[in-house]
Amino acid sequence: MAALIAARGLTKTYRLGQVDVPALRGVDTTVDAGEFVAIVGPSGSGKSTLMHILGCLDTATAGSYHLDGEDVSRFAGKRLAQVRNRKVGFVFQTFNLMPRLNVEENVALPLKYRGGVPRSERRERARALLERLGLSHRIGHRPDELSGGERQRVAIARALVGSPAILMADEPTGNLDSHAGAEVLATIEELHRDGHTIVMVTHDADVAARAQRTIHIADGRVVA
Ligand SMILES: Nc1ncnc2c1ncn2[C@@H]1O[C@H](COP(=O)(O)OP(=O)(O)OP(=O)(O)O)[C@@H](O)[C@H]1O
Ligand SMILES: [Mg+2]
Repeated sequence: MAALIAARGLTKTYRLGQVDVPALRGVDTTVDAGEFVAIVGPSGSGKSTLMHILGCLDTATAGSYHLDGEDVSRFAGKRLAQVRNRKVGFVFQTFNLMPRLNVEENVALPLKYRGGVPRSERRERARALLERLGLSHRIGHRPDELSGGERQRVAIARALVGSPAILMADEPTGNLDSHAGAEVLATIEELHRDGHTIVMVTHDADVAARAQRTIHIADGRVVA
């Protein structure tokens, strides 16, 4: 079976004025369906850059990337956005919920962007996920009425609503106290047990230890 993620020689160079900032310097990596992988490394090593490329939020400067069998290396703009919407669910450190939308509307949003999913189905899928994540009693609330842990679980529901091939989380517990962080990690582990493929960025060794496998990044490269 082909890997879900297969990246070869990924480089990324940011241009800041006249200066080139190399963020990735040739990353090879694969992730199989059903794996739970942690990406770890020091601040500035390129973890978020790598995750953004693997999650089709951005493209590499050079190298090849196949996601779920499709060569997305040269995709850009709308085409990249479509692949991202169908294949990837994202969870961010700062939750990134829409403050004016309630919980159910936030969760249903990726299906609205996708288009072609009737409103009744969007609601149903959002509600089913919120129930599964223990948030049924919060569906009408706005994000600022929730605790940090609840917000992050809403973000996880939003990430899953489109049935993505992969769930990507960048420091999902970074803004949470230890209790809420433990709950979010338990949720992620449960999703993995249920068959979801998960890639999680963290600089916390204890958090990384919960994954099945760790990819260490230093200075834009995978290190042993
Ligand atoms: N948009 C950008 N423009 C210019 N340089 C950037 C940009 N994003 C990241 N960089 C640079 O690329 C390098 C890698 O950054 P990245 O955000 O991937 O690191 P990270 O491992 O996620 O760090 P952290 O643990 O602090 O989140 C750093 O040197 C950073 O300054
Ligand atoms: Mg980062």
